[in-house]
Amino acid sequence: MRVIDHRPSLHIAEVPSPTPKAGEVLIRVAYAGVNRPDILQRRGSYPPPADATPYMGLEVSGTIIGLGEGVNNWKVGQQVCALTPGGGYAEEVVTAAGHCFPIPQGFSMLQAAAVPETYLTVWANLIERGRLRAGETVLIHGGSSGIGITAIHLAKWVGAIVITTVGNEEKMRICTSLGADHVINYKTQDFQTVVKEITHGQGVNMVLDMVAGPYVEKNLRSLALEGRLVQIAFLQGSKVEVDWNTLMMRRLTFTGSTLRARPLEEKSRLVQTLHARIWPELEAGRLLPVIDSEFPFNEVEKAHDLMESSVHIGKIMLKVGHD
Ligand SMILES: NC(=O)c1ccc[n+]([C@@H]2O[C@H](COP(=O)([O-])OP(=O)(O)OC[C@H]3O[C@@H](n4cnc5c(N)ncnc54)[C@H](OP(=O)(O)O)[C@@H]3O)[C@@H](O)[C@H]2O)c1
Repeated sequence: MRVIDHRPSLHIAEVPSPTPKAGEVLIRVAYAGVNRPDILQRRGSYPPPADATPYMGLEVSGTIIGLGEGVNNWKVGQQVCALTPGGGYAEEVVTAAGHCFPIPQGFSMLQAAAVPETYLTVWANLIERGRLRAGETVLIHGGSSGIGITAIHLAKWVGAIVITTVGNEEKMRICTSLGADHVINYKTQDFQTVVKEITHGQGVNMVLDMVAGPYVEKNLRSLALEGRLVQIAFLQGSKVEVDWNTLMMRRLTFTGSTLRARPLEEKSRLVQTLHARIWPELEAGRLLPVIDSEFPFNEVEKAHDLMESSVHIGKIMLKVGHD
């Protein structure tokens, strides 16, 4: 099969097809989602888990073409979208049977491939870890990212008030149209000051952050009493000096998590939860992924360049095979 290898630089390679082990399925890939962690992996700063394939690609849609021992909940020929342990940038990929979803009714294969990584990440961090509830106010950084848009959608679905930060005017307009209640251009405004104004000095109940670095202390200072800060990435660095007094005086919780490193069973549980809670919303059209652009398999470099430019709004997708 053909796969995109990033070592030493992006190119298409011919490698043997993977074989599904017990509990796994083999998928012929139609579309793969491009996610920021792929960029980090390509650059060598986000090594895959020791037992994972070395290739990039954390989510796909496609058709099941092989079953490992003991898999009885899927059949060859069924179309699925799935979280993958890596290796999604390929014509064929193996993943745990428990990490597959049926294609949401009414969704194209392109749309379906845009769902697993961001919805699972946001569910795990915004809803479960961050315990966001109706009526609360949440600050979501990187509002125009694949993750950020999903977070805006899920926060509104929960019934929360959403404040989000973005880097330009066009992203401001789009995030407003997607349901964000307040959008801050962090390049022209100080988000901590604006959050204080919007919340009448109270602060927000939760912050979902991917930036870190200088944001850490400002995030802590933007939180209300008993507020929660959930860290999902460190785009501006993970080593910072912080005055922790705010954490103690406001009884704050600072936590974070990453999806890829979670045990298989834990990811299967998240898949089941998302299928039960979110699939009906996707199928009813109340939640939809936002797709910025689609690139052919052999133009993966353009897809990565676009992501690194941060000009995109929503998901960047790779067309790998046929629907
Ligand atoms: N913890 C997990 O399990 C998990 C899973 C998936 C993804 N993630 C993380 O979530 C983040 C979003 O992922 P994605 O795939 O949705 O990526 P994405 O669409 O590329 O979004 C990243 C956004 O962050 C902003 N940004 C980029 N570089 C920045 C910098 N140096 N400082 C501040 N802002 C910057 C950009 O928006 P502006 O133009 O508005 O600045 C960009 O659109 C990534 O950091 C990724 O590593 C975490």
